[in-house]
Amino acid sequence: MKKSNQIFLDACNGLPTKRTPVWIMRQAGRYLPEYRKIRSKATFHQMMHKPDLMTEVTLLPMKRFELDAAIMFSDILVIPESLGMKFDLVPKVGPVFNNRISNDNDIKNLNYNNDYFKNIYKGISSIRSDLNNDKSLIGFAGAPWTVACYMLEGKPSKDYMSLRSLMIEKPDSFKLLMEKITDATINYIDGQIKSGVNVIQIFDSNGTYISKDHYEKYSLPYISKIIRHINSRNIPSIYFAKGLCNDVDLILKNEPKVLGIDWTVNIGDIKNKIKNKVVLQGNLDPSVLLCSNQIIKQEVAKIIDSIGNNQGHIFNLGHGITPNVNPISVEFLIQTVKQLSKK
Ligand code: CP3
Repeated sequence: MKKSNQIFLDACNGLPTKRTPVWIMRQAGRYLPEYRKIRSKATFHQMMHKPDLMTEVTLLPMKRFELDAAIMFSDILVIPESLGMKFDLVPKVGPVFNNRISNDNDIKNLNYNNDYFKNIYKGISSIRSDLNNDKSLIGFAGAPWTVACYMLEGKPSKDYMSLRSLMIEKPDSFKLLMEKITDATINYIDGQIKSGVNVIQIFDSNGTYISKDHYEKYSLPYISKIIRHINSRNIPSIYFAKGLCNDVDLILKNEPKVLGIDWTVNIGDIKNKIKNKVVLQGNLDPSVLLCSNQIIKQEVAKIIDSIGNNQGHIFNLGHGITPNVNPISVEFLIQTVKQLSKK
């Protein structure tokens, strides 16, 4: 594979880079005062669906920091919306659907509307044309299992029992639901690629709610269909498998080019297990960003050292940045990664 002018893309493709590239999950979020200012005047949906606003918000962290990739400002819950389920963002609760799925008919009645995404696609084109060409643009979607958790519960939950019981009691209805989400996601990803994203990350943030056996039977086949599709488009795929990282052999069956590692595991151990089969992304504990610069430097060094001199690593947190982080600590983190990883 030939080198590109994007260090992030080269790292995704396993090519050598002069230092470790860095971006941060949820980098365009509430820890930024400029995000909060825009958010005080606009709804979350306006920020996702007005191409100008989507562009502005996506580029906020790129203006402030020397990050190697931007992630389009959106949410994994646009997929249920494209299938006819609307949500509102309720303060202190999170996304709440007007109607949750409560019976088989609700699943049968889900109807994909590709038009739903038209402003998001315009936003992606506008971001790509505003972004420096040495920076990558990350598109994303949720893993079907993770998205379905919200569709059944109707809001964030501690245990997602509704989807787990549907899966066990009514496997046919569960299958229909997962197929509808998977097909919609594949269409959506194609639209993102056509509009200009360079990489796609699949967020499987609710992976811990499922047993290993159930994961293999009820979640993995849909994720791997999506990832195989991304791979067939010659775009790097990143699979962020929160809570599943100890079972590397299992999650690698999805065949992602890059594995996103959460902060609960030792990235050096994972590196030994994968034997250079995939690139790793991660995995600083997000709470480290609430600590002193001295601690931040020490924890970044541990990660860079455990990867060693080998290529095949993208620096990130092990989950999203939290709203209480000081942007000055983010600046320090990015500079430290660059300094310590210079080859
Ligand atoms: O990373 C980025 O900067 C891009 C934007 C992005 C958002 N959501 C914006 C957002 C991405 C990649 C997501 C993914 C997402 N959304 C996930 C998977 C990643 C993860 O963190 O586990 C999940 C589970 C969701 C669903 C969701 N959206 C929840 C549970 C919430 C409320 C909880 C929270 O973190 O506030 C949202 C709202 C949301 N999505 C916000 C942002 C910036 C907060 C919006 C606001 O109040 O202004």
